[in-house]
Amino acid sequence: KAGTAVKPGETELARQLEYIRAIRAENDAFAAENGRKKKFYSLAMGCQMNAHDSEKLEGMLDEMGFDRTDEETEADFIIYNTCCVRENAEQKVYGKLGWLKHYKETKNPDAVIALCGCMMQQETVLQTLRQKYRHVDIVFGTFNLYKLPELVATRMESGETVYDIWQEQREVVEDLPAIRHFPYKASVNIMFGCNNFCSYCIVPYVRGRERSRTPEDILAEVRRLAADGVKEVMLLGQNVNSYGKNLETPVSFAELLRMVNEVEGIERIRFMTSHPKDLSDELIQAMADCDKVCKYLHLPVQSGSDEILRRMNRHYTKESYMELVRKARAAMPDITLSTDIIVGFPGETEEDFQETLDVIRKSRYSTAFTFIYSKRTGTPAATMENQVPEDVIKDRFDRMLNILNPIVHEVHEEQLGKVMTVFAEEASKQDKTVLTGRADNNMLVHFKGTEDLIGQMVPVKITENKTFYLIGERM
Ligand code: 5AD
Ligand code: SF4
Repeated sequence: KAGTAVKPGETELARQLEYIRAIRAENDAFAAENGRKKKFYSLAMGCQMNAHDSEKLEGMLDEMGFDRTDEETEADFIIYNTCCVRENAEQKVYGKLGWLKHYKETKNPDAVIALCGCMMQQETVLQTLRQKYRHVDIVFGTFNLYKLPELVATRMESGETVYDIWQEQREVVEDLPAIRHFPYKASVNIMFGCNNFCSYCIVPYVRGRERSRTPEDILAEVRRLAADGVKEVMLLGQNVNSYGKNLETPVSFAELLRMVNEVEGIERIRFMTSHPKDLSDELIQAMADCDKVCKYLHLPVQSGSDEILRRMNRHYTKESYMELVRKARAAMPDITLSTDIIVGFPGETEEDFQETLDVIRKSRYSTAFTFIYSKRTGTPAATMENQVPEDVIKDRFDRMLNILNPIVHEVHEEQLGKVMTVFAEEASKQDKTVLTGRADNNMLVHFKGTEDLIGQMVPVKITENKTFYLIGERM
């Protein structure tokens, strides 16, 4: 509780650091004996939240004395941070587990396999693992990520599979070690969980109810990152627009943005995801006012049909969504928008689908993440009547891309000739003389440059449009 001397999680962090030290001693002994360090392979599936959680898992494994490898076939410790938002993500995990069984039998019998994340929060998955995939060593969920060191130690001692799945958050452990995937940009959780229960979505069941971190904790983390050289932060939450409502002293997301905007050293601020039902005028104003907040908004629409939106439990209409788009553009004329769209929600008619196409035409997205509806057991939509046949969905999906992609192309075409400030992130994998980065409006830009520019804001003149990215020349 706020006001007490001991922060929740502080003693827990100390406990885990003890386990880390013990495992490190064993791993160091292994290295001395075998002339090589043990290696870990880490895979994050799904959303940015998982990617960021994996940075923490990797930080802990690093402290335990493992080296990171990108070659799964030479790993001693393999960890998948799983996603269950659509069925194909789960199929991928089972496929890989089949391969890992063979890997353990033929190549590395001592390899340790750990599974964590959203998929593990489902009882049916645990049953399947217990019955069919007994070569898995450690299984944990979304609420006890910080316990990885303890679970590794328990596995080493007992030699048996460790299952540790919680149904809710018990405490938030701050300050876990983390390895950032990029030195100059970082993600920061501002809240966990989701209260919205969109009828197709499994996230509220596997990530629990909404919990916001205090602005003090968030700002302390952002300042620490800035001191460590980070210039761009991504504020993460399933629904950032309802940030802070349940804090002891409520704070709005707009207020938080203004506070983060003041942190010295930070040059760019991004955030995701915004739920249209909670996007306030106050937030639009804060975005427009704050010079460091990127003029880019990810605003998932899911569908353009009022009837589908109602049955999705989204709490807005096509018209109120379009009104938000108008307001955002009025306040920030150069803003770019992106969205998420689901095709084939139960009962979706051709007319409903046409409404979605209409929103795409009117919103003029610079990017859209498009999904085929995937039935998730346990969600209300899974038992709705009139599930749409596969061939109808496929046909609609193709027609949607035929409308969407030319718009994405046009929106990128409008950038030709402009000079944009690109935050250089990395050298291209194919060609080391080409750097890639993002403009303020989130568009991906490739340009010729040397690696010493990585981590810098580079003025680039846009010369070519590749539909999903731009090519430019350094000014
Ligand atoms: N089927 C298809 N797409 C889904 N999403 C969430 N649940 C499902 C589902 N059952 C999509 C939504 C959400 C994004 C992260 O994933 O578009 O915004
Ligand atoms: Fe899922 Fe809706 Fe919550 Fe997003 S807002 S995580 S789609 S329930």
